[in-house]
Parts: sequence; structure tokens; C-alpha cells
Amino acid sequence: MNILLTGASGFIGGHILRALEQAGHEAQPVSRRYGVDFQRMLTPEDWLPHLHGIDAVINSVGIIAETRGQTFGALHYRAPAALFRACVMAGVPRVVQISALGADGQAFTPYQLSKKAADDVLRSLPLEWFILRPSLVYGEGGKSAALFRCMASLPLMPLVGDGKQRIQPVHVSDVVATVLQCLQAASARRTLDVVGAYPLTFVDWLQSMRRDVGKQPALTMPIPSKLIMAAAHVGRFIVPMLHPDNLRMLQRGNTADVQLLAEFLGRMPLSVEEAP
Ligand SMILES: NC(=O)c1ccc[n+]([C@@H]2O[C@H](COP(=O)([O-])OP(=O)(O)OC[C@H]3O[C@@H](n4cnc5c(N)ncnc54)[C@H](OP(=O)(O)O)[C@@H]3O)[C@@H](O)[C@H]2O)c1
Repeated sequence: MNILLTGASGFIGGHILRALEQAGHEAQPVSRRYGVDFQRMLTPEDWLPHLHGIDAVINSVGIIAETRGQTFGALHYRAPAALFRACVMAGVPRVVQISALGADGQAFTPYQLSKKAADDVLRSLPLEWFILRPSLVYGEGGKSAALFRCMASLPLMPLVGDGKQRIQPVHVSDVVATVLQCLQAASARRTLDVVGAYPLTFVDWLQSMRRDVGKQPALTMPIPSKLIMAAAHVGRFIVPMLHPDNLRMLQRGNTADVQLLAEFLGRMPLSVEEAP
């Protein structure tokens, strides 16, 4: 297939790009590195020249926090919505949208709401669409997992509150496998939560990262949520990922039923113990 892949220079997009090439697909990469800025791709007409001869579109552009000139409204909603509408106009049949777990009826942060807005546009269009909502994604090149690995390596591990937030991290190879399956699945128009084999607490995940590198469990240092939140209001200007909204999403938890994904893949996704 000839596939337009947005976000091809990113963590997940990069893994998808390599897998597409290995599977013999032709991939047209899109991102600022390839000369296309979503902030300037806000109408279907902007996208039409990119869609000649394209069989499927995979959208993997996203940001975890807004910065100057990078808005959720444009990157998560307006540019993808324009791209999806352009697919209808150009006769591109299949679209795979990388959304995020929590972009549903309970969405409460601008990150989740902007993802959901684009997902809702896609659902309304006459396309073979797949909306994938990954939990925290980890694997080679992942930025958030690298930050958590760094926390896990400390002899005294700082935790947000009691560290008992429930999460269900998914390995990037399972996200890629799900995308590849979307390209060939006979029945489309599906929303899938892309999660790891089972939920665990945040502190247990950090301790398992220590085990992986042969370290003993660390002592933990619970930091009251209010204090972390106050620090995040300043810290986000240095590390955008530390935005208070991201801490709120972590506090709410990030888990889902794995069964639909397991049926779609024909196997269970990896657990954190099994992942490479
Ligand atoms: N990583 C996770 O844990 C996770 C979990 C759930 C959902 N997701 C979603 O998965 C998608 C990919 O995430 P990721 O972790 O791979 O993020 P990433 O590594 O930060 O990659 C983001 C991609 O978006 C591109 N991009 C950013 N601003 C752009 C702009 N103005 N115009 C065009 N392209 C732009 C970047 O390329 P350039 O810099 O070259 O423009 C890059 O290719 C996102 O939608 C994210 O919300 C990720």
C-alpha cells in the first residue's frame, strides 16, 4: 500500500515507519522535519496535493503540552479534521488515527478534548476508519518512559502522592502491531483502546523497571499531590510534559479493558514483564 504517515519523525511514528517499510509498504512521511507544519494545514485543500495515489493515512502527530506556536486546537483537531475531510474528497479509503486513552465522554483536559474532537469528526465521515487510543506507550525512544526510567533509577524514588495511580502501559511494538492490523482488517469503523496486558500501579511499574536492570526495590518518597501540582505550574516551563493537566490525567488513572484489543490482535498484548 501507499501510505501517508504523519508524525513519522516521532517516537511512535518512527516505529510505525520502520514497520511499514519492513512489511513492503510505500510510506510518505509527513511532519515539520519533512517540510509540513500542521499549524499551516488547516483546510482540506491544504492536504489534497499530498493525497494523490494514497491508499491509507495514518495520523501520529501530537503534543503532550502546548508551547508557543504549537496548539492542541490546530495539531490535534483542526489539521487532522481537515486531513480526514480531504481523504473523503480524494477517495482515500482508510484512515488510522492515533488518539489517546481518555479521549472519550469523560475527557476533561484540553489534550484529551482536542483528541476527541478530531476522533468525532473522523467517526462522522464515510471512511474506513480506526481510532486507536493508546495508554502510556513505552519502548526505545519514548520520552515519557525515559523520564519514568530516570525516576526509577534514583535510590529514593519520588512519587506523585502515594504512587498508587492505576496505569496500563503498552509497549510500542503492540501499538505498531495494532496499526498494521488496521491496514488489513476486513471490518473497519472501530475504536480500540490500546493497552498493556493488565493494569498496575505507578509505583509498581517503577519498581519493575528497577528489577529489569537488576536493582533492588527502592525506598519511595511520596510527595503530596498539592505540592507536586504547585511545582508543576512552574516546572512545565522547563519540561512541558510536567504540565499540571498531565498530572491530573495520571491521578485519574489510565486503564481499559484489554479484551477487544486481544481479539483484534489475535493474542494478548505484552505485559511489562514480557516486554523487551
Ligand atoms: N507516547 C505516548 O505515551 C502516547 C500515549 C497516547 C497517545 N499518544 C499519541 O501518539 C501520537 C504520537 O506520540 P509520540 O509519543 O510519538 O510523540 P512524539 O515523539 O513527540 O512525536 C510527535 C510527532 O508529531 C510531529 N509534530 C509535532 N508538531 C508538529 C507540527 N506542528 N506539524 C507537523 N508535525 C508535528 C513531530 O515531528 P516534527 O517535530 O518533525 O514536526 C513528531 O513526528 C500523539 O498523537 C500522541 O498524543 C502517545
